[in-house]
Amino acid sequence: MAETANSLPVIDVALLTGDDSDRRSKAVHDLRQACHDWGFFILVNHGVPEDLMNSMCAAIQEFFAMSVDDKKKYEAKTASDPIQWSNFQQASLWRDYLTLYVHPEFHCPDEPQSLREVVSEYTKRMRQLARKLVEAVAESLELEKQDVDQLLLMDSSFQMLTSNLYPPCPEPDRAIGLPPHTDPGLFTLLIHNGVAGLQIQRDGEWLAVDSPPSSILVNVADQLEIFSNGKCKSVMHRAVVNGEKQRISIVAANGPSKAATVGPAAALVENDGRALYKSMNYGEYLAERFKGSRVDGKTLLERMAIRHHE
Ligand code: OGA
Ligand code: NI
Repeated sequence: MAETANSLPVIDVALLTGDDSDRRSKAVHDLRQACHDWGFFILVNHGVPEDLMNSMCAAIQEFFAMSVDDKKKYEAKTASDPIQWSNFQQASLWRDYLTLYVHPEFHCPDEPQSLREVVSEYTKRMRQLARKLVEAVAESLELEKQDVDQLLLMDSSFQMLTSNLYPPCPEPDRAIGLPPHTDPGLFTLLIHNGVAGLQIQRDGEWLAVDSPPSSILVNVADQLEIFSNGKCKSVMHRAVVNGEKQRISIVAANGPSKAATVGPAAALVENDGRALYKSMNYGEYLAERFKGSRVDGKTLLERMAIRHHE
């Protein structure tokens, strides 16, 4: 039977952070299972005002609507620029995007006028949510909260906001919005304008997923797979385009600090009897990713895996 989008696990943040300890433990358990079995889930009752989500979409739409000449001011010059606009509406790539480094330093274009304030507020909310999720996952893995903060240095977590605009494409089957990849951080939080287009790899097939209005679509990223010694899965995904509707997605990638050296948590290595991944400084990990995501056909995450011969 073909899987449908409805089968993505749903995590209720109000239960996860609430006072009812039975319901809380169940939510923590569900989160762990979602991170393990799917690597993707839908967040509800997350407390982020719908108005803020709508303003974020509206402000970014205004940015994309500016003239190409105006947007060119923000064009990426190097892979590590803190503000990077780019558009690929040629060949097989079909995407206009703006990536901003927003934490611990905040970078944002000055126009449209509403953008800075809304990006600042929205990304702060996403950071708070990502941190709650990291803490809950750590709890589900029986790690100490303090150890987690000290290892991942979450106070100076590195956060990027990527806004994608996928215009209607005359030949959608011959183009791709965003090629297959995994995300580099801990948790990625995505909202969109109601037009579906995200696909995730599951059992060797591409599965289309969607998220209801006002919910947030979350995925586990590479650093969490490494830190959890493989108990959370950073799953390959891509964005496809369609012939009729414009799609906008706003993607907050929440990482540890660039100063953190991330490897499998010591308590898990002890329990599991072995580390399944090497450790690497997160700043270096990102620099490596920016050079291109594959070397000899392998993703960086695959290159981090330690093979054990029984
Ligand atoms: C991303 C991403 C998917 C989408 O920006 O990392 O996976 O649906 N985007 O735009
Ligand atoms: Ni992604």
